Amino acid sequence: MNGYFGQFGGRFVPELLMPPLVELEHSSAKFLNRSDFKEELSELLTDYAGRATPLTFCPAFSAELGVKVFLKREDLLHTGAHKVNNTLGQALLAKKMSKKNLIAETGAGQHGVATAAAAARLGLSAKIFMGAVDVERQRANVDRMNLLGAEVVVVSNGTQTLKDAINETLRYWIAHQDDTLYCFGTAAGPHPFPELVAHFQSVIGLEARDQILKKTGTLPDYVVAAVGGGSNAIGIFRHFLNNQEVCLIGVEAAGTGEPGCYNSASINLGRPGVLHGQLSMLLQDEAGQVLPSHSISAGLDYPGVGPEHAHLAAIGRVRYEMAADADALNACCLLSRAEGIIPALESSHALAWVIKRAPEIQGRTVLICLSGRGDKDLDIIKNALTERGLKL
Ligand SMILES: Cc1ncc(COP(=O)(O)O)c(C=O)c1O
Repeated sequence: MNGYFGQFGGRFVPELLMPPLVELEHSSAKFLNRSDFKEELSELLTDYAGRATPLTFCPAFSAELGVKVFLKREDLLHTGAHKVNNTLGQALLAKKMSKKNLIAETGAGQHGVATAAAAARLGLSAKIFMGAVDVERQRANVDRMNLLGAEVVVVSNGTQTLKDAINETLRYWIAHQDDTLYCFGTAAGPHPFPELVAHFQSVIGLEARDQILKKTGTLPDYVVAAVGGGSNAIGIFRHFLNNQEVCLIGVEAAGTGEPGCYNSASINLGRPGVLHGQLSMLLQDEAGQVLPSHSISAGLDYPGVGPEHAHLAAIGRVRYEMAADADALNACCLLSRAEGIIPALESSHALAWVIKRAPEIQGRTVLICLSGRGDKDLDIIKNALTERGLKL
């Protein structure tokens, strides 16, 4: 593995960041496949995080759409989203590397909470960088991080969202590389992060494949996941990539969906460029300046995407489509009422795609990665409904 997925990926970083990235690459190669590491991680994932997560068939939602919908329930994991699969892996790696501190960026706050929890569990300190806009819209998660003993650093640069939080975390890492590991939150960034995060998240697809085979006797027709940086999506896709008969759909956030408005659909609406140490698809203006992104869901609000997704799009193995804010909101309400499951607004983008395409895929089996639960989004959901003259 040279850090490239086709033409995408790489390690475009200042020289001062090379030593910790190389150290991380070597340590990953040394520890990840050792049986003691695998056993310790497996125990943490099972006894602490709550794996394996269930695969839930949705009878009412399926009947309404005319599609057989199965949800991979990452929302039921400790801390409420798939992020903890990765943070436990990286925190354990940090211990093996004799690092005492974890640093991380967060958008929706889910990765921050998952890092804070993993750090507490493994006796490490945690410092979480979060944009001021995200601090405002995901306040409950800021309180959770504090309660878990992490320090939350508010980032007031640029658009004050995930992009700027990553910049600040990388800057901090340069100055504190001896005793600190950057616990990156998605399958993006400089090599080896895309590969490392995908490795830890691929437990989602490993379980889901086995579970759907047991329940239905065949592979699903579609596997659908929301794409921010791309970690839950690559986590569920990886174990289906070699089955060409399974149609893989990544759903990007179209923002308001109006032409010319800010969005977070870097594969659909961006072009190749470098951000945060990787060459990938990127929202940028004609001069190559990174455009501000927008999504109703903080976790998808990012102008870039992991390089493996850019590659899978380029070779046509995964189809990347879009869902707008209003469609995600509607999907969130629909699943909540039909099945008693409140999905995160991020995951609601995947549900929204299935709702929209239901007339074309009648009778098919669809596996959706329900990456997280929606409790963190209640204020946003309430406000967005009020703006539309609706109530909870
Ligand atoms: C619940 C949930 N789903 C999805 C995402 C998007 O991240 P990724 O594309 O890395 O899965 C986030 C990010 O915070 C999230 O909290």
